[in-house]
Amino acid sequence: MLIKVLGSAAGGGFPQWNCNGRNSADVRKGVAGLKARTQASLAVSANGQDWILLNASPDLRQQINETPELQPALDQGPRNSPIKAVILTNGDVDALAGLLTLREAQPLAIYGTRRVLDVLASNSIFDVLDASLVARKVMTLGRPFTVEGPGGPVGIEIEPFAVPGKVALYLEDARAGAGLGTQEGDTIGLKVTELGSGRHFFYVPNCAEVDAATATRLKGALLLFFDGTLYTNDEMIAQGLMNKTGERIGHMNISGPNGTIAAFADLGVKRRILIHINNSNPVLRETSPERTAVEASGWEVAHDGMAIEV
Ligand code: MLT
Ligand code: MN
Repeated sequence: MLIKVLGSAAGGGFPQWNCNGRNSADVRKGVAGLKARTQASLAVSANGQDWILLNASPDLRQQINETPELQPALDQGPRNSPIKAVILTNGDVDALAGLLTLREAQPLAIYGTRRVLDVLASNSIFDVLDASLVARKVMTLGRPFTVEGPGGPVGIEIEPFAVPGKVALYLEDARAGAGLGTQEGDTIGLKVTELGSGRHFFYVPNCAEVDAATATRLKGALLLFFDGTLYTNDEMIAQGLMNKTGERIGHMNISGPNGTIAAFADLGVKRRILIHINNSNPVLRETSPERTAVEASGWEVAHDGMAIEV
């Protein structure tokens, strides 16, 4: 099974259009040791021909242009695409706005939880994806299914599972108390398995906490992509970017006693890769002490174009 990191940044990308923080300003200046990043998404293929996307980021058009595997085949007529299905892990803009790039009457399947498919159903702009060509399929938490594109199965099984998280930013309901109206199915992780070989990996780009169920599920995994949004809970406040903590936006921080490095220290996950990295995160600077600490603890930092075979 082939995995390509199409994008590795959190919502807004890196640099973010309106951000003049130190990281964004320096990457624009071309300072050494910083790479621009598009918004988080993976492409996965079991047979090298049919590809599925894990989320469709607002940068999808650029990502396709930079990824020959996702471009139309030369010998299959005037219109075709190797992209057969999109699996959505949440309803945030950075996870699904790229669906609009996939218009133009191309057959496709979109998989989401009931909660996320309701977002598509309640926003008529997504009807640009003609329902007679683009199937919307409900994923049920804890129930694995074989991914089917318009031409049939693509050799990949997905198991969606709930992780602690938050409802999409634009659906937050302040009157609903601390959870802001978050319900099960708003934020999920995916176990992605190659049918036949059983080789698999986990994709968890959004996670608010490694609770007991998440730890049990991920323990001993061979490969994990995990929420790397922030290094410290208050870094966006400290940098004057936004008055919200990581806790408030539904993302764990990497460092500290309650952080991701600590949470996974004893879980025996063989290869661990941070993704969905916010423009404020010091690990974006390849020579920073924070980047050194992350790598010393056995974590990698995803970059756009990263390719992995499992
Ligand atoms: C997030 O992951 O917190 C969201 O992408 C926020 C956003 O919509 O920008
Ligand atoms: Mn996001």
